[in-house]
Amino acid sequence: MSTPGSAAQIPLAPNGPGQVPLLELRALRAGYGAANVLHGIDLSVDPDEVVVVLGANGAGKTTLLRAIASLIPHIGDICVDGQVVARSRPDDMLRRGVGLVPQGRGTLSELSVRDNLRVGAVSRASGREVAADIERWYEVFPQLGKRRGQTAGTLSGGEQQMLAIARAMMARPRLLMCDEISMGLAPLIVTELFGVLRQLNKESGTALLLVEQNAELALDIASRVYLLEVGSIAASGDAATFRSNDAIRRAYLGYLLRGTDHGGDFSRSFVLRDYIRIHLCARGAGAGHRLS
Ligand SMILES: Nc1ncnc2c1ncn2[C@@H]1O[C@H](COP(=O)(O)OP(=O)(O)OP(=O)(O)O)[C@@H](O)[C@H]1O
Ligand SMILES: [Mg+2]
Repeated sequence: MSTPGSAAQIPLAPNGPGQVPLLELRALRAGYGAANVLHGIDLSVDPDEVVVVLGANGAGKTTLLRAIASLIPHIGDICVDGQVVARSRPDDMLRRGVGLVPQGRGTLSELSVRDNLRVGAVSRASGREVAADIERWYEVFPQLGKRRGQTAGTLSGGEQQMLAIARAMMARPRLLMCDEISMGLAPLIVTELFGVLRQLNKESGTALLLVEQNAELALDIASRVYLLEVGSIAASGDAATFRSNDAIRRAYLGYLLRGTDHGGDFSRSFVLRDYIRIHLCARGAGAGHRLS
């Protein structure tokens, strides 16, 4: 076993024989202008798998998901289904089956719940299937069904997070990336949201790449874990090992185990800009909407 601080290989769960990862990152680097944030990330998510990236404030978790979603430029390889995605646009990644629930939710406050869900389906052709999916999400989250005609800005934080998840799922992604969905929410709501994600993975086989500071919750749902420290993978391995081995938990997760909440320092304007780039630009819509 490697010592804490060095890049550790805690019982890695390899891909199944002959299995091509749904998502694979090789030596991924990304940042903002001259400032490099990610320093060569290797990571993979198999079809049907639940993978969590844990990391403290500023570790680079959001930057990682934004790079994968093609919202910021990168160096290194991002592969989907074994194919290197070269200079993709955000809506290309969505069409390849990679969806994002952004940090801060990014729901469109002046649109109704129903219209937020419709916006999530702009990449799909069949209106009838879209309508059926919207009904299905009202069943999954009855709170949304009751408020379908209300503007998103009138929803509670938990309801907005439900809407953000349902909206991302309206594109029917094969891999859903969720950026700190527990942030700022009451424990009961967070448990409900994670329950829905678990069900989604089990019943429809949607792969999940979760980014979290709430290590307890994330370890409970994930099969594999990567620990991100200052833009590098410090450790990776089976979630069960992280869950059950006290020494590993203390060494790698000590500062994350109580599920910290650090809302308030995230720039909402980036969330809205990202969201518009993924879902709305192609239709020329979205201008003038405020974030809820
Ligand atoms: N738009 C930006 N321009 C410049 N630097 C940024 C930008 N967004 C993030 N950074 C910097 O990149 C680093 C990683 O930030 P990032 O938001 O990816 O971290 P994080 O792990 O998601 O943190 P948190 O848990 O607070 O959400 C930080 O040093 C941050 O200040
Ligand atoms: Mg973040």
